[in-house]
Amino acid sequence: MSEDLEQLASEYKVVVRDLMKVYRRGLKEVIALRGIDFEVRASEFISIVGPSGSGKSTLLKMIGALDRPTAGLVLFEGFNVTQLDDVRAMEYRRNKVGFVWQVGNLVPGLTALKNVMLPMRLAGKKKSEAESRARELLQRMGLSDRMRHRPHQLSGGENQRVAICVALANSPELLLADEVTGELDTETTDHVMEALREVNRDLGTTIINVTHNPRVASYAGRVLRIRDGLIEGQRHTLFGDISEVDAKGRLVIPESVRRLAGIRKRVVLRVVPEGLLVAPLESVGENNNDDASDAEGHG
Ligand SMILES: Nc1ncnc2c1ncn2[C@@H]1O[C@H](COP(=O)(O)OP(=O)(O)O)[C@@H](O)[C@H]1O
Ligand SMILES: [Mg+2]
Repeated sequence: MSEDLEQLASEYKVVVRDLMKVYRRGLKEVIALRGIDFEVRASEFISIVGPSGSGKSTLLKMIGALDRPTAGLVLFEGFNVTQLDDVRAMEYRRNKVGFVWQVGNLVPGLTALKNVMLPMRLAGKKKSEAESRARELLQRMGLSDRMRHRPHQLSGGENQRVAICVALANSPELLLADEVTGELDTETTDHVMEALREVNRDLGTTIINVTHNPRVASYAGRVLRIRDGLIEGQRHTLFGDISEVDAKGRLVIPESVRRLAGIRKRVVLRVVPEGLLVAPLESVGENNNDDASDAEGHG
């Protein structure tokens, strides 16, 4: 990588670079993220839109330090959150990040007010302070007359607005929203997305919102598209796709990776400081034919 990460980190709140995630279930491998690059400015509101299975939830989990990537990094204010130990990761999640999911943010037995107070109480805030902030947040979300209601007594849209208050309770700098309107009708969706837009505008909270719905995505100031674990329209330095080399030196390069790298029947192998460069023959010019090796994989 030739770019200056320090420079980038000083310009952006969040920098994501070459982020990869491979899930393994037994022998089966799923490459959920294939090398994601993007950055988000402080107080920006961005959406990432893509079909189901494209890697959106996985990406948010990596940014929120809920799981570790296979490779790559996420810088938050210049700190690589993918390498925090468990205690620091928990502190980061508690103090810097707020999460809103499609469902299930709220404790069923607690009123809206108590739900919003809970994360503040867990963070050690005094009861009176927690209560006054919770009231303020619920008022901001237009829920003044719903504070004493429990989740089952509230509509889907009201529940999601309470969930946004819960996420904002400890004044996070970054709000991560995953399909927050997935279960809502069109009109309620608009209310919830308007609420997010107000949070961004009035409180300056940086928001990363992921959704499969382009209309929902359009509430953000900027929209990125994700597909098959890659952001559309970006050039990717693919690295880290894990593959075994057998006793005869055969390497299996998955079809999707070959397609991305423009590799067909013949490749050129070159030893470089990072290891081995496997380049499509077409891209290295005619005078390099001597180096050409047939590294086509089988199986
Ligand atoms: N814990 C997991 N174990 C194995 N595969 C997973 C896991 N989580 C997600 N995946 C797979 O990773 C890919 C991306 O999933 P996900 O990030 O949930 O996509 P999206 O949120 O865009 O629908 C999918 O193929 C999914 O099946
Ligand atoms: Mg998802």
